[in-house]
Amino acid sequence: MSKPRILVTRRWPTAVETVLAERFDVTLNRNDIPLGEDELRPALSTYDAVLPTVSDRLPAAIFEGASVVTKILGNFGVGYNHIDITAAKARGITVTNTPGVLTDCTADIAMLLLLSVARRGGEGERQVRAGEWKGWCPTHMIGTKVTGKTVGIIGFGRIGKAFAQRCHFGFGMDVVFFNRSPVDPSEAARYGARQLASVEEVLATADFVSLHCPGGAENRHLMNAARLAAMKPGAFLINTARGDVVDETALISALENGTIRGAGLDVYEAEPNVPDALRRMENVVVLPHLGSATEETRTAMGMKVVDNVTAFFEGRDAPDRVV
Ligand code: DGY
Repeated sequence: MSKPRILVTRRWPTAVETVLAERFDVTLNRNDIPLGEDELRPALSTYDAVLPTVSDRLPAAIFEGASVVTKILGNFGVGYNHIDITAAKARGITVTNTPGVLTDCTADIAMLLLLSVARRGGEGERQVRAGEWKGWCPTHMIGTKVTGKTVGIIGFGRIGKAFAQRCHFGFGMDVVFFNRSPVDPSEAARYGARQLASVEEVLATADFVSLHCPGGAENRHLMNAARLAAMKPGAFLINTARGDVVDETALISALENGTIRGAGLDVYEAEPNVPDALRRMENVVVLPHLGSATEETRTAMGMKVVDNVTAFFEGRDAPDRVV
């Protein structure tokens, strides 16, 4: 029997590409240039499986037309708001993701952003590199103390919990969170956290607000002008979730007007575009979507896709099926 034909839309860790090539009839994207809709649409008419990632766009329109032959989209990543899963499902296409393996690394990046923005790490580094540091003095680059402060988490899934654990047990922080569904208080206590009834209650309480909910329509602009204004004066916003969870224009105004004190961002509304205003502000730490970017995690993510696609073509249930 011929091997399933598979398209991988971007370069993946070599170890994973090697396994894919052993198991399937694989087309790799050797020059790693992102594919546009004009390339993804014919791919759905050519390959049995397409393995996309966060930099690809698969809106409903791409699934229209009689000639779609793709049976599975094995997404490289836990977030899949770049895929219209309703349209994919309507075409009978299975979609899988890669949960679990990027929990720790994404929580680590959220902690890095929180510490950097509070303690002015990026600003200090820029000053030293520019040769502008004049030496120690009692009033130099004074930041905000982290230990013992209150952190508010929006979205208490795997990553939210891992972040809570770091904040509470690592930095003695009081942790409150909002989650759509109730979390058993004893489960929350394992992460040193307690649930509040609304996003607003979290915002009113927290010195740091960190977003860990999915992107996509349900949470689009969850942090809008009103909610940014509802944060405590002097509070910081951390976003390692998805860019569209924050209204970026409202965020820029809130930072410019001093409504909030600073932001640590790993994700943006129109990646890789980061608005000039955000790049210019010293009280904003900007990272290039590094949440899962470690050798261990990226390899584990790829291997999860391999497992999902292998199971699917062997007629078993794909372990991380989304639809
Ligand atoms: C994910 O898995 O959704 C990440 O954002 C990509 O690293």
